[in-house]
Amino acid sequence: MASKHSPTTSALRRPSTTDITAAHGSLADAHTDLLVLPCCEDEATLPGDAKSLSAKLAPVLTDRRTRGEFTGKANQLSLADAHGLVRAKRLLFVGLGKRAAVTPERIRQAAGKAAGLIKGLGVGEIIMPIFGLGLNKLPPAETAQAQAEGFLLGLYEFNVYKTELKPPPKPLRRATLLVQERRLLEVVRRAVERAVITSEATLLARDLGNHPSNVATPSKLAELAQELAGEAKLRCTIMERAEMERLGMWALVGVARGSEEPPKLIVLEYKGGRAGEAPIALVGKTITFDTGGISLKPSENMEQMKDDMSGGAAVLATMHAIARLKLPVNVIGLLPATENMPSGAAQKPGDVVKTLSGLTVEVINTDAEGRLVLADALTYATRFKPSVIVDIATLTGACGVALGKHAIGLMGTAPKLVAALKAAGESTGERTWEMPLWEPYYEQIKSQVADLQNVGGRYGGTITAGAFLSKFVGDYPWAHLDIASTAWTDEVKP
Ligand code: BES
Ligand code: MN
Ligand code: ZN
Repeated sequence: MASKHSPTTSALRRPSTTDITAAHGSLADAHTDLLVLPCCEDEATLPGDAKSLSAKLAPVLTDRRTRGEFTGKANQLSLADAHGLVRAKRLLFVGLGKRAAVTPERIRQAAGKAAGLIKGLGVGEIIMPIFGLGLNKLPPAETAQAQAEGFLLGLYEFNVYKTELKPPPKPLRRATLLVQERRLLEVVRRAVERAVITSEATLLARDLGNHPSNVATPSKLAELAQELAGEAKLRCTIMERAEMERLGMWALVGVARGSEEPPKLIVLEYKGGRAGEAPIALVGKTITFDTGGISLKPSENMEQMKDDMSGGAAVLATMHAIARLKLPVNVIGLLPATENMPSGAAQKPGDVVKTLSGLTVEVINTDAEGRLVLADALTYATRFKPSVIVDIATLTGACGVALGKHAIGLMGTAPKLVAALKAAGESTGERTWEMPLWEPYYEQIKSQVADLQNVGGRYGGTITAGAFLSKFVGDYPWAHLDIASTAWTDEVKP
């Protein structure tokens, strides 16, 4: 089904062009365009398997070190001609920082930095050892996975709409993680396979945030979800507006009223766990464009509101990855998808809507639409009797005011779940910071005319939004991730 507003039929998915694999062999004998080697700041010898090359490459390295050109500081890069010292044509040294401080996240970043440079070099293939092998007792699988992830994420570019590309450099076709010890090959190979799955999910989520709203409409996302489900052991059903109305999802339907694009509630089910085991429920805000509605946003930076479906994109990509990884869990993914538009039919400030939960909400500000669509999706999630509910949403500008662009806002009703999310954020380099859901915040969202109002005033905007959501999850353990300030970046990061 083509969207009538869409001037382009560009697919929402693209094939990956770089193959990354593991192989067994010797670094010194590796015939390659480019050998990528790790280096610690506080050691003359190279770490891991690269140690065997330390003596051979000492002339190149000491020269750079003494000139202060390359010291091995974290994320530092240095390109060199191999001068026949090894079989490879060129060398790229990658800094890991101080040996004792090397973590999987450090390695992920270093590999990402390296990929960022390599993609402009025009080399067809590269070889690298496992950066963190033998460092700080890091398990080989964990460090290899982090390295492969960082590498694939660092290659990312979004130029599918550029028809006038500068002569593109020769694409990188193949990257190989070379393992000198044969007994490690299998474990590294599986780690790389996992990295390909998790990274492709991240890249898909990035693409979906970058596609404009005339392409990534609710209908197109629903089609994509069905396509992805068809490839993996995933069930996908699409709930249409008529069914939302029949059930009483008037908060979700209310947000969609101003748009010509029909809303969709995308429901994904994965059953990899025991039959009857309570599923994890993941709910992602999927506003394909947020104009603010009648409470219209200023035009400056409004184009960025095409990414207001990043939470839904993360859930969709996560569901696909979970199914490809065949994880032994049951998971439900819910994407309440709609545009938030002003029109003669749009909902207006002061309107009151009844939610699926039965609670009524006074819509003080139509720009606080995320919590409205999430309210109904969260209540719908409780129908699956989940073990936990986690929602992820570009919910409040106030989150960036509170935490800057370096942390995800985290709130929840279940300390163990909150702690698990915090730990996951630390190990993946996507850090979270918890905010309190104290009683006085709930006073701010009491309405004069309805049970709740959808805004809580100037102060604590991220928390009052979280407090609002918590009213719709019943007694289920629940946590909320506000990614409003982290979903979008204009900076190139490792
Ligand atoms: N999608 C926005 C939040 C947002 C703002 C995300 C900036 C990314 C960057 C959300 O729907 C919104 O408009 N929130 C309002 C809430 C307010 C009306 C209480 C906001 O943050 O201004
Ligand atoms: Mn809004
Ligand atoms: Zn929004």
